Amino acid sequence: MKVITSIKEMQKYIKNQKNEGKTIGFVPTMGYLHEGHLTLMNKARNENDVLAVSIFVNPLQFGPNEDFDSYPRDFNRDFMLAENNGVDVVFHPSTEEMYPNKMSVTANVHSRIDVLCGRQRNGHFDGVATVLVKLFNIVQPDRAYFGLKDAQQVAVVDGLITDFNFPITLVPVEIVREEDGLAKSSRNINLTAKERAEAPRLFESLQMAKQKIDEGQRNPKVIEDLIQAHITTHTSGTIDYVEMYRYPELEELSELTGKIIIAIAVKFTKVRLIDNITFDV
Ligand code: PAF
Repeated sequence: MKVITSIKEMQKYIKNQKNEGKTIGFVPTMGYLHEGHLTLMNKARNENDVLAVSIFVNPLQFGPNEDFDSYPRDFNRDFMLAENNGVDVVFHPSTEEMYPNKMSVTANVHSRIDVLCGRQRNGHFDGVATVLVKLFNIVQPDRAYFGLKDAQQVAVVDGLITDFNFPITLVPVEIVREEDGLAKSSRNINLTAKERAEAPRLFESLQMAKQKIDEGQRNPKVIEDLIQAHITTHTSGTIDYVEMYRYPELEELSELTGKIIIAIAVKFTKVRLIDNITFDV
């Protein structure tokens, strides 16, 4: 496995691979790799000749009160995981390499942001879109892999790829779950034993909602009430939001039809859990 820290060298490596007719699968990450990343890598490994992973903690997507400095970093561990999961090249630039000067042009995301978690993260998706424009130009992937745990990020990347005409296929990858249905997250460890036992009720509420929709219910308010009642009755968590939108546009729906997302966020004592399902009605 190659580790490349320079943009020029990465572009040269990619050019050589492309000259040999190879396809490039790309998994962008901020490191501290977990099972979700490994699922993306395994899928990308199977679908492309070359598997490229970037590890870069992008300062542009952190707000002033967010944890850029304390964001976990462990390159040696990431290196081992990447190597053991069939990665061909890790692109691991420094902040100075990516942002040698203050950017004079940045991406500005206008839609798909003022809902779900994006509502509380002003400027976050501008930072994500800006670094992805750079990474897409450096890595020039045929396919880019993103996890649906962050379905809003997937929606924003979909808009970015379409609006800027990147010749890249976006591959959204399903949420990885524990056996009892709880969406895997490194934050689950912060649940108390009682909360951990309650937490599968979140996914259960989404499944119940889907079943009601499959049976013909089309009113978003009825579905929202059903989810809220299920979570309130069966968990000690406090609901942050239960929202439903057209997907990936993230536009309001008066009636549940077409491709939709149902997303929830629930606060427990020390951790806020998010989950979602996307499906065609
Ligand atoms: O999902 C992430 O880890 C980041 O937002 C991404 C896509 C790597 C951009 O910095």
